[in-house]
Amino acid sequence: MNRHWVKTKDGSPSLYVPELQQNYHSLHGALQESRHVFIEAGLKLFADQKEVRILEVGFGTGLNALLSHFEKQKPSQSIYYHSMEKYPLQEEEWQALEWPELFSEKPEYQEFYLDLHKAAWEQEVCLRPDFTLLKNCTDLRTYSAKAAQYDLIYFDAFSPEAQPELWSESVFAEMHKALKAGGRLVTYCVKGSVRRAMKAAELEVEKIPGPPGKREMARALKEV
Ligand SMILES: C[S@@+](CC[C@H](N)C(=O)[O-])C[C@H]1O[C@@H](n2cnc3c(N)ncnc32)[C@H](O)[C@@H]1O
Repeated sequence: MNRHWVKTKDGSPSLYVPELQQNYHSLHGALQESRHVFIEAGLKLFADQKEVRILEVGFGTGLNALLSHFEKQKPSQSIYYHSMEKYPLQEEEWQALEWPELFSEKPEYQEFYLDLHKAAWEQEVCLRPDFTLLKNCTDLRTYSAKAAQYDLIYFDAFSPEAQPELWSESVFAEMHKALKAGGRLVTYCVKGSVRRAMKAAELEVEKIPGPPGKREMARALKEV
């Protein structure tokens, strides 16, 4: 996949894919979007759990994994992080990305970022005592979920305009199956057709305030 890096408004980097006309993150700020949508609206709901099991659609730059490790509410919490990615970044791409705001003052962020990318694919890797990573190089459309495995899904695919097949009722039915009862799915996209596909897959969807530059985002619940 052809892509090049771009700088977003909060100073953090992202990637642009010309053939899909898609950015990996909001141009209003990659870092603030990831924090708002996935950490604040997702991970923080599980602050009281000793372990949180996360499924991510689209590993990409690894930013969501990085923030999940460092910005969870309780340092004692452990995270099992399973991410699916069809088009992994090449080494020269992930080596070129830098988050000055994160890396310059906190060398442990940079170290963890490199560890995330160097970790082997298709196997569980214990990156830190409180962080286990499983990266699968796979197509979301072929994903067949084991029931009730995850507390939280970071649904971070490219937009439904670019990849409508990833925002379908059948994909959300797998997401519903993969969630534990009471589990949540968060995504930046709040489009009506997407919310209808989620509802058809028996997820209960709400619109909540979005990150800067976006009025709303969606959060879905698998009912108990
Ligand atoms: C919006 S980007 C988000 C990436 C990542 N979460 C980040 O913060 O960098 C969408 C990601 O979905 C991946 N992707 C695209 N099609 C996919 C598919 N069919 N199955 C799995 N991943 C896919 C892309 O390669 C890209 O990494």
